[in-house]
Amino acid sequence: MVILQIRNIKYQYHDGTLALCGTCLDIRKGEFLAILGPNGSGKTTLLKHLNGLLKPMEGEILFEQKSLPKYSSKEIFQRVGIVFQDPNDQLFAPSVWEDVAFGPMNLGLSKNEIAYRVNEALSLVDMTPHANKTVDALSFGQKKRVCIAGVLAMKPEVLVLDEPTCGLDPAGVTSIMTLLKELNIKQGITVVMATNTVDLVPVYMNRTAIMYHGKILRVGTPEEVFSNTDEIRHACLELPQIAQLMQILRNENNLPMDNLPLTVGEARKFLINTINLKHSAFSM
Ligand SMILES: Nc1ncnc2c1ncn2[C@@H]1O[C@H](COP(=O)(O)OP(=O)(O)O)[C@@H](O)[C@H]1O
Ligand SMILES: [Mg+2]
Repeated sequence: MVILQIRNIKYQYHDGTLALCGTCLDIRKGEFLAILGPNGSGKTTLLKHLNGLLKPMEGEILFEQKSLPKYSSKEIFQRVGIVFQDPNDQLFAPSVWEDVAFGPMNLGLSKNEIAYRVNEALSLVDMTPHANKTVDALSFGQKKRVCIAGVLAMKPEVLVLDEPTCGLDPAGVTSIMTLLKELNIKQGITVVMATNTVDLVPVYMNRTAIMYHGKILRVGTPEEVFSNTDEIRHACLELPQIAQLMQILRNENNLPMDNLPLTVGEARKFLINTINLKHSAFSM
């Protein structure tokens, strides 16, 4: 089922920059979707349309088959939660607890319900021990987690994140991606994430949309999208590093393979099979 449908939208900034020009995309309920594109391709502008922060100049966006303007902003903010790229743009309350409580308080929930939601959200992102800290005292990665908690406390159906791994160290990237995958699988939240890190896509996402110059060029599984290497290059992207190595082995070392393995696990399986075949051929 399609939960968010982006129909041919156009958006131009005040200075005349055309950031979206005929963008179309169906976001499916329960999926973990990457919006993969180089800097300036329109990812942030597109994400800001998903909860009505920006309004398209042409075209429309449907949430559960109903046009966004038919919802109150309060309802759509609750059902589609956005985590911005820079946590410093999102956090403003003196303490972690108060920051996460801000959204639920605005929903007019009871004190008990607010406390329950804040504690649950902090626990989901593993930040319970830091609940009383001031926001300034947190590391960059911890700030990102608090931003995610703030959105989770609203109990959204769709979680939208703008380059959530940007600025994190390798362990921080794995930990945020694992958290997002868990929220997607265990809580059933639809996750949409803008990124330009191709290596993450085949490891974590079900589908990926390639964005370039304000348009979605292609949507598909990572296997489908990365099999078109010319299009990836055209969109100023690269194949995941493992796929680059496998492509060199195929094209320059004549190692036959039907599909390019995209992850360490897939490449390992392929290489072990190939080595085992060679061994059994020698021993015959
Ligand atoms: N506030 C703004 N005013 C004018 N142009 C902008 C503004 N924000 C983004 N843009 C332009 O819109 C285009 C798309 O930007 P953006 O959505 O931020 O892309 P991405 O997130 O993929 O890097 C770029 O050309 C960018 O320079
Ligand atoms: Mg951006």
